Amino acid sequence: MLPIRRDLKFKLPADKMRCWNPRGVHVSHFFNTLSIFFPSGERFFIDSVRNYRERITDPELQKAVTAFIGQEAMHGREHIEYNNALVASGMPADAMERLVIRLLNTAKKILPKADQLAVTIALEHFTAILADILLREPKLLEGSEPRFAALWRWHALEETEHKAVAYDVYQAVIGKGAVAYVRRCVALAALTVIFWGLVIPFHLEIMRREGGLFDFRGWWQLIKFQWISPGGLRRIIPAYFDYYRPGFHPWQHDNRRFLVELDALAQTYRAAA
Ligand SMILES: [Fe+2]
Ligand SMILES: [Fe+2]
Repeated sequence: MLPIRRDLKFKLPADKMRCWNPRGVHVSHFFNTLSIFFPSGERFFIDSVRNYRERITDPELQKAVTAFIGQEAMHGREHIEYNNALVASGMPADAMERLVIRLLNTAKKILPKADQLAVTIALEHFTAILADILLREPKLLEGSEPRFAALWRWHALEETEHKAVAYDVYQAVIGKGAVAYVRRCVALAALTVIFWGLVIPFHLEIMRREGGLFDFRGWWQLIKFQWISPGGLRRIIPAYFDYYRPGFHPWQHDNRRFLVELDALAQTYRAAA
């Protein structure tokens, strides 16, 4: 699986920021909250893979790494625009992003490079399983404003396309033994706590600014959306735990059938268009 860098532009309609998903403002802002993490997160992924670039001997993996970096850079660029629109709509996404950047910079300072790569593959697992449910369950974006839906779908498709790249780098340079196994599992366990420990308060603060903090119907809509029907978060739980198996590899879950959509999407949203 060789990923391809695609230069697409989505030009999101900023005035739809709070209601682009028909399931309501709580759901729209849940996705918007996730967007806050991407630009700095993806920069961290790029750097942690780059740290080991010279040590990769397999020419195919070398090519995949170049494409991985290109894809994450494009995602970062589009999510910066997304987040700018979120700030323009009155949400403190910039302050929240600064906090994420501070955390990631600290991680870069105190963690050995091997752990930084372990953090990357753990978060890539997270994005891969979120991407998979987004692709498998059309109801998650059904009826959404088309440009927002296309951006999320594009990101999900490319996360799928490159889901094993950082993992393969990890196996090539850190290995497949017990130490490498424990390192990547500890990273995912810790990041699960840290990630939701940031997403939940960020989302709450955005909903407070939105005036929806005590809108219990809205919260119920979100809980239903996440855990009951379509229940995206509930349905990723088994895939989440697969990572803790010693012989895990991202392509054991083969969902490449979705990737056929990429060409049509790329034609519609090509940057020059
Ligand atoms: Fe990405
Ligand atoms: Fe990624």
